[in-house]
Amino acid sequence: METSVLVLNGPNLNLLGLREPAIYGTDTLDTIERLCHDTGESLGLRVDFRQSNHEGVLIDAVQEARTTHHGIVINPAGYSHTSVALRDALAAVGLPVVEVHLSNIHRRESFRHHSYVSGVADTVICGAGSHGYALALTHLARLARPAGRTSQESPR
Ligand code: DQA
Repeated sequence: METSVLVLNGPNLNLLGLREPAIYGTDTLDTIERLCHDTGESLGLRVDFRQSNHEGVLIDAVQEARTTHHGIVINPAGYSHTSVALRDALAAVGLPVVEVHLSNIHRRESFRHHSYVSGVADTVICGAGSHGYALALTHLARLARPAGRTSQESPR
């Protein structure tokens, strides 16, 4: 079975391109999705790319990933700074997690400096713009295929 990763995007990321381009850049979410599929293909990863504005939908997607995917790239967007429940879901599934932010959250307002997700993420990438997603997938390919696991093995 091919290694499969969930790329999960939180609220307002559907507005990328229009939304505060000086902070988030001009790439749309469709452009980022294409970038993720192309990067995934070059790494031999199957990429399942999703976005939701709803906390519960994101949590359901994380829970489902336990049996269908080998790792998660997540840009939790505004929920990074508020959601204990999303953090708990990521901790519960026990998959490798790479957290991505387009902007450098540490150079912005102080309420963005803390992410509940970071404490359960293996890796955090911020401030690299949309390229951060390519970096995240490249790194997740290593985390999701630890030495010893063959490509035939199923997710947990
Ligand atoms: C973001 C940063 C968050 O603080 C913000 O709420 C977002 C996007 C980023 O990608 O830079 O919606 O996660």
